Amino acid sequence: MRPSPDLQAEQARTLASPRLRYGLLARLLFLGMDLGYGRRRTLAKFKVLEVIARVPYQAWEQVAYIAMTHTHGEPGFARRIFDFVSEARHQQDNEQWHLLILEELLSERGEKQGFLRFRLLPQLVAFFYYHVSWLLYVIRPRLSYELNAHFEDHAEHEYMEFVRDNPQLEGEAFTSTFEDDYGSFASLADLFRQIGLDERMHKEESLARMAQPRFG
Ligand SMILES: [Fe+2]
Ligand SMILES: [Fe+2]
Repeated sequence: MRPSPDLQAEQARTLASPRLRYGLLARLLFLGMDLGYGRRRTLAKFKVLEVIARVPYQAWEQVAYIAMTHTHGEPGFARRIFDFVSEARHQQDNEQWHLLILEELLSERGEKQGFLRFRLLPQLVAFFYYHVSWLLYVIRPRLSYELNAHFEDHAEHEYMEFVRDNPQLEGEAFTSTFEDDYGSFASLADLFRQIGLDERMHKEESLARMAQPRFG
């Protein structure tokens, strides 16, 4: 069971805090998202965001596994890598629930998602973003964590602002086949507040990693 935070207070905290200063890569990505999917926050646009959100964690996991292969002779170091992999996998799973829940909501609402814009293009962006995250990580892990922190900060603010701008979500129930996995919420507003809070946690983990050496 996850502890139940005061979700309204957490939303207010996000809304009262400024966004991070995004770097060039992050800004290009957000601009591309706006051009491809519109500036308005919609469930379909959030879904695309979640398709992309998982890949830095996959890239880091992959690099870490290679590193473990080369360092298993030093158990202390290998252990730290393993802990790092566990954290990356946990975040990846968390993003996976976000994605599945959004898919479920979209299909319940019968929203049309064209193949090109909502299946193919997100996969292409995710493929590109994976390699950028991977490459930055190999060159300098700090750069990859920073890009992810910006991505997560953006997601956190977008979800919290989405709830602020759509008060009708307070009255909509959340029923899902993923409740056992992700949790139960009083309304869709609370569901999205929780997702926004998850994104803040992901951001904070990446910011903390920026200060540490590789697999610290
Ligand atoms: Fe997410
Ligand atoms: Fe996230």
